[in-house]
Parts: sequence; C-alpha cells; structure tokens
Amino acid sequence: AQTERESMLLINEFAMQFFENQLHNTTDGQEIGMSYFRERAFSDESIREFHLGYSPEDRSALYKAATKAGYNKKLLFDTGLCIDDNRGGGYDRFRGRVMFPIFNIAGKVIGFGGRTLKNDPAKYVNSPESIIYNKRNELYGLFQAKRDINKQDKCFIVEGYADVIQMHQAGFKNVIASSGTALTEGHIHKIRRFTRNVTELFDGDAAGVHAALRGVDMLLHNGLNIKVLLLPEPEDPDSFARAHSHSEIERYIADNEIDFIRFKTRVLLKDSDNDPVKRAAAIGDIVKSIAVIPDEITRAVYAKECSTTLGIDEDVILSQIQKDIFGRR
Ligand code: CTP
Ligand code: MN
Ligand code: MN
Ligand code: MN
Ligand code: MN
Repeated sequence: AQTERESMLLINEFAMQFFENQLHNTTDGQEIGMSYFRERAFSDESIREFHLGYSPEDRSALYKAATKAGYNKKLLFDTGLCIDDNRGGGYDRFRGRVMFPIFNIAGKVIGFGGRTLKNDPAKYVNSPESIIYNKRNELYGLFQAKRDINKQDKCFIVEGYADVIQMHQAGFKNVIASSGTALTEGHIHKIRRFTRNVTELFDGDAAGVHAALRGVDMLLHNGLNIKVLLLPEPEDPDSFARAHSHSEIERYIADNEIDFIRFKTRVLLKDSDNDPVKRAAAIGDIVKSIAVIPDEITRAVYAKECSTTLGIDEDVILSQIQKDIFGRR
C-alpha cells in the first residue's frame, strides 16, 4: 500500500502539473502569469527547468480538478494545497499567484511558494509544514544545482527563489536558497554531501550584512569554509544577474569574495569605532568564531592573521581561543 508520504508527494506532483498547465495553456496563465515572468526576464528554459506555474484566481480551481481526478480531500488538506471550509468542501491556498515548486534532493515536489502579482502584503505564500515539508531543512534549487555544486566543489547561498533562477540563467548553476530563513544544521548536512565551500551571496544593504553574520558559527563548527560576497546596494542576486554578463559577474566574484572571518573582523571593527569596551567585545566575538573551527591548523592561521589585523598579541588570541574551546566542553 502507498504510504501517506507517497500519496502526499503524488498529489503535489498533480498540483505542479496543474499549475504548469494553467500557465502554459490558459488565457489567464499566458496574459497574467507568463507576462509577469517575461517582465522579470525568466527564460522559457528556466520556466521549464524549475517547473514554474500559475494558480488561477478561482476560489477552488485546484480543489475541483484534484477531487474530480479522484484525489482524496484529506490529502489536499494535509499537504496544505487546499483548506477545509468545514462545510464538506475546500478552497485553494494559492490563488492568482505565480508558483515555484520546491523539490527535495531526489526531485520530488514537497511544497510550493506562490508569489503575489498584485502587491498583496503576503508577498509569498508557502506550503505549511507537513510530514513531507520541513521548511527549516530545505534548500531551494538544490535538486537542480547539486551536480554543479559537486563539480565545482562550491556553492553560493542566496535568499530567494528569483535569485536562484536568475543566477542559473546567467550560467551560475551552483546556487541555492535558504528561502529567507537562517541556515540550520539540517541545511549544512545536505550541503556537505556535495561541498565544503560555501559563499553567502547577499544584498549589499544593512539587512544583507546582518544576514551574512547570522548563524555562521554553526557553519564553521561543521568544518565548512565560508566566504561572503556582498552585492552593491541596492542590488540582489536577481537584479545583479540580469544587469551583468557572465564574465562581469565572474569578475565581480573574483574581486569581492572575502573570507568570512575577515569579513566579520571588518564589520565588527567598523561598528566598534574607537570605543575600547566595544572593541574588546568585538574582538571576543571574532575569537569565538575562530574557536568553533574544528581544524587546529586553520584556527592557528586565523589567529595569526587576526593578531596582525587587530593589533593584539598572537599568544593572547590563542589563549582566548583555548579558553573558548574549554568553556564549551
Ligand atoms: N519569503 C517567504 N515569505 C515571505 C517573504 C519571503 O517565504 N513572505 C522567502 C522567499 O523564499 C523569498 C525569500 O524569502 O524568495 C527572500 O525574500 P525577499 O527578499 O523578500 O523576496 P525576493 O526573493 O527578493 O522576491 P522578489 O524578487 O520576487 O520580490
Ligand atoms: Mn530579495
Ligand atoms: Mn534585502
Ligand atoms: Mn554539529
Ligand atoms: Mn528579489
């Protein structure tokens, strides 16, 4: 017998095909959904590769199509594709949105993100958590990117759906998104199957800088090599990839990608001005990041470099690293 998991994956597959069919073969799909993709310069190839779609405005278009095709209502509710109206029927979660299916590493559809076309305050509506979709552990685009991540032994992490797709379109196929959430250990364990070299590719604004610093000690602790690449304000990877050629982007990466510890040092020292108390706290914070790195030689290299940049005796830094390590045990 089919497990509940398998049934949920099947109905998601049905829904993905339904949204694709709406996009490609209906008037609204073409005039509303496809026009939107064209305006944002999504290529036909990307639209097919990422199986983008369109959910019609009708209150229950998918609900009707799926039940008519013989799918169980309960499955529609369990996957969050539809919502129980408590009167024996249901209505669709995604209406009048362009649809981004989310695939697991094996290429099965586990959920969707749907983007508004009308400035709805909920810019994206996402599938709820379920036994097949745990948002905190998924990386958007990993299924499409994994081969290239493996081949290039490196991946870029961006924030959003459009960022992944436009980077792919510009010829950078080793790009995945954390979909607006902080990176988790679950993400790390997935990435580590393909590479240990990770570059955070974020917006150049204050929010991007903040996001680049957040959660990184966990990546370092897991032995990943982390770099940071900030874009010039107000670009995000989507707009940047559209505005520049492949070789311009390569050039930008070569010139601006920076080692995480250096990045953190630069940001924290700038923020602490010449206030000695703040400066000591910043240095303590930087040393903490070094202390989580599992490889002793790597730690020593950073300690040496930081001693120069920070103007602090190397032995002081090394002994603080030791204290941090013992403090954690
Ligand atoms: N996100 C989400 N729900 C929201 C807002 C954001 O799930 N209400 C996730 C999406 O995966 C989104 C990512 O966080 O792609 C980044 O958010 P944001 O920068 O606001 O969106 P963009 O991806 O830039 O969206 P767009 O380019 O379509 O405007
Ligand atoms: Mn964005
Ligand atoms: Mn931003
Ligand atoms: Mn761990
Ligand atoms: Mn964007």
